[in-house]
Amino acid sequence: MATALIVLAAGQGTRMNSDLPKVLHPLGGVPLVVHAMASGDAVEPDKTVVIAGHGADAVETAVLDYNPDAIVVRQSKQLGTGHAVMQAADALAGFEGDAIVVFGDTPFVRPETIAKMAASRADGNAIVMLGFEAADPGRYGRMIVGGGGLEQIVEAKDANEAQLAITLCNGGLVAADAQVLFALLHTIGNDNASGEYYLTDIVAAARAQGHCASVVTCDEAETMGINTRAELVRAEGIFQAKKRAEALENGVTMTAPETVFFGFDTYIGRDAVIEPNVVFGPGVTVESGATIRAFSHLEGCHVSRGAVVGPYARLRPGTELSENTKVGNFVEVKNATILEGAKVNHLSYIGDASIGARTNVGAGTITCNYDGFMKHRTEIGEGAFIGSNTMLVAPVKIGNEAMTATGSVINKDVPDGALALARARQEIKPGMARKLFDKLKKTKARRAEEAK
Ligand code: UD1
Ligand code: CA
Repeated sequence: MATALIVLAAGQGTRMNSDLPKVLHPLGGVPLVVHAMASGDAVEPDKTVVIAGHGADAVETAVLDYNPDAIVVRQSKQLGTGHAVMQAADALAGFEGDAIVVFGDTPFVRPETIAKMAASRADGNAIVMLGFEAADPGRYGRMIVGGGGLEQIVEAKDANEAQLAITLCNGGLVAADAQVLFALLHTIGNDNASGEYYLTDIVAAARAQGHCASVVTCDEAETMGINTRAELVRAEGIFQAKKRAEALENGVTMTAPETVFFGFDTYIGRDAVIEPNVVFGPGVTVESGATIRAFSHLEGCHVSRGAVVGPYARLRPGTELSENTKVGNFVEVKNATILEGAKVNHLSYIGDASIGARTNVGAGTITCNYDGFMKHRTEIGEGAFIGSNTMLVAPVKIGNEAMTATGSVINKDVPDGALALARARQEIKPGMARKLFDKLKKTKARRAEEAK
């Protein structure tokens, strides 16, 4: 059956006290809304519709960055979760299949849970809602279950004392036939304590029309919504703990996992070694048997088997390290390919470049890739030797088995096998140092005398 994913992401998140819309605050290096979309991906949606409101343009950019096929619709006034879902009706006009509604600020729902909701739909329930046993039911909607399944959801603000005592709470997610969902939403009003169109009111509406409704339950941890910065910090802690445990489970070697920070999609192979205090941003793959030494920072890069990175290295987006390469301390690499066995061991910047196999790049080498307006490429062949402190003024090419002399400023291509020397010639002036010392000493003494 076809499935559409509807992601509610229009709220401002007032309690975040931030100019950034709540769903764009990062967790594991990517916006919250991306986590919600990723859990929804469990059902392989044929269409994804995201409801944006506050900061809609920025939300749209983040959403399309993750899924270019997503449709972003605007909810100009946040009149409630039911009203928000209604905004997807045009985008899903004529859509035949199920709709799954998820909240953009609820990042931990497991794909398996959404799959369970889809299964309950397949069992003949018109409406499936996600519920959980709340330790502290507080502001959550209460789920009223009777003999025939889920009867009604009452928001805490509208609940009476007996209803408030219920601990089965609404986690927010919905699975329903898309057109049934929109038809039910047409029937609901906003005559309640908040004056909002409640998505939760579809349950009673469905029951009144003779439909079945059910609750699928999950662990409370999955439905954790982010409303404040303190909750976001707690969520980050939970996320990191999960990632660390997963990495250990997958056979990654770490001596101090509690100091290693993972991104949303970090992939680390078996027997890779991750030393303490390493930070992974989004888009990192580290293959089996690679070593990331302490205090390195990696994002958007691929590290192959046998490569050694750091300590204190920075790999930025577009970095591709082939097998058995070395990127040492205080080296920054960006948008560059370093081929098998090549080494950049100390204090270098390699940007917009390719470095051939077995080439050695000496300490302090810089690719001067930016002229203040545009970026230019540096291409270095294989088996080359780049002398320490070479400035490679891009665009420039260094041939196979070529050499640059230490301290050279290279702005012309160097052919295969050639040595490029581009520095001032050294002169020796015998005895001159002593003469100079003598002269300077006298000058200093004279000045001291004059100052008296
Ligand atoms: C909602 C549920 C409540 C449930 C709780 C679980 C309703 C009426 N209540 O309450 O039963 O226990 O979630 O966390 O559904 N949003 C929009 N547009 C709007 C309003 C909300 O896009 O007009 C988005 C928000 O950005 C957020 C999500 O919908 O991502 C949930 O809205 P929120 O206001 O946080 O709902 P709760 O009051 O927490
Ligand atoms: Ca909420």
